[in-house]
Amino acid sequence: MIEITPLNEILTALIAKKGRITFAEYMSVCLYEPGFGYYTSPGRKVGAEGDFYTSITVHAAFGRVVAREIAQMWRTMGSPAGFTLLECGAGNGRLACDIMDFLKERESAMYAVLCLVLVEQEPSLESAQREMLAAHLEKISWSSSEKFASGDLVFSGCVYSNELLDALPVHRVVMTSDGLKEIFVTCSNEGEFIEEVGQPSTPDIEAYLKRLNVELFPAQQAEVNLNAPKWLSAASKALKQGFIMTIDYGYPAVDLYASRRKLGTLLCYYRHQTEENPYLRPGLQDITTHVDFTTLMNCAEDAGMKNIWFGEQYRFLMSAGIIEEIEEIERSAISEDEKLRLRLTLKKLIMPEGGMGDTFKVLIQSKNVIAPKLLCQRRIGG
Ligand SMILES: C[S@@+](CC[C@H](N)C(=O)[O-])C[C@H]1O[C@@H](n2cnc3c(N)ncnc32)[C@H](O)[C@@H]1O
Repeated sequence: MIEITPLNEILTALIAKKGRITFAEYMSVCLYEPGFGYYTSPGRKVGAEGDFYTSITVHAAFGRVVAREIAQMWRTMGSPAGFTLLECGAGNGRLACDIMDFLKERESAMYAVLCLVLVEQEPSLESAQREMLAAHLEKISWSSSEKFASGDLVFSGCVYSNELLDALPVHRVVMTSDGLKEIFVTCSNEGEFIEEVGQPSTPDIEAYLKRLNVELFPAQQAEVNLNAPKWLSAASKALKQGFIMTIDYGYPAVDLYASRRKLGTLLCYYRHQTEENPYLRPGLQDITTHVDFTTLMNCAEDAGMKNIWFGEQYRFLMSAGIIEEIEEIERSAISEDEKLRLRLTLKKLIMPEGGMGDTFKVLIQSKNVIAPKLLCQRRIGG
């Protein structure tokens, strides 16, 4: 059932003015319209009371393993006297908190020279982040996505994100007998949002697919995320020396645009249920698409960066320290029942099939770091 939300009026007015809008414009309003968008309106989005879980909400061990790798990044850079960590799309600050707690407790030399910058599209989340990170406030500063994108922030260290790029607005395309077309959103006479195909709104869409040598099959639909490579370029410009760590669900382009994905990867989340119709309740449900990691890798190479490691989240966690985290739990003084509960919880993060371990990927890219040696490069079990 279609729900009428405050965004219906805003979207309808926008469509009346422009005739039709790209899906990227539609998604941008649905997720980020100030005060009304999914991410820019009050209410819990992530976790049991929200609409979906992320790895962070599963257990602090996820952030602790990421922290182990970040400490290794600092070491492989020669333990410099300053290191900036920047999280983009920091949400309520949970991941940053798990990372900072670990570094304070286990990596005091690094913690002493560390500063954390939080960048979040929704500025009102700063108060939740302040509360979450109360033990680390003297280390933290806040910046905006505009400042990050403008190239004004420059530092050495690591830019990381978890489930940021899947939440960026995408264009949608379809291959027709008349060539590649874009899917636009307009209104029917009854005032419902409907789709309409037309010439691509920008030549960048065809250029994006051409760069990947992707030719869609007849009637195949797909998404083109022009914002993801823009974000990566901004991250690369921000780094004098260091790493970008991107954690998200997605695939290399050859898999993402494979013919079996006839309708692309667009999916909505509402109260822990998936929903394929993005027009059902604008602003009340999350809209996401899978990330094209090949474009992120191409983009890094264009910017003179190196792609150091790419793989499934379970591989990353297994080689970067989840085993050590599990061993610590086993050695701890908690009850056997609690240990069993935690083992089952952590399994969700690393289970290759059906869990978060497989669809989720980790990409690590470096800039101006000579022969970096990271934990994730260790052989599992060896
Ligand atoms: C799916 S949530 C993930 C939140 C958190 N990282 C987690 O894993 O629980 C995506 C977050 O990215 C933020 N976001 C989207 N675009 C952004 C941008 N350009 N810069 C900074 N944050 C952004 C959204 O407001 C939202 O809080």
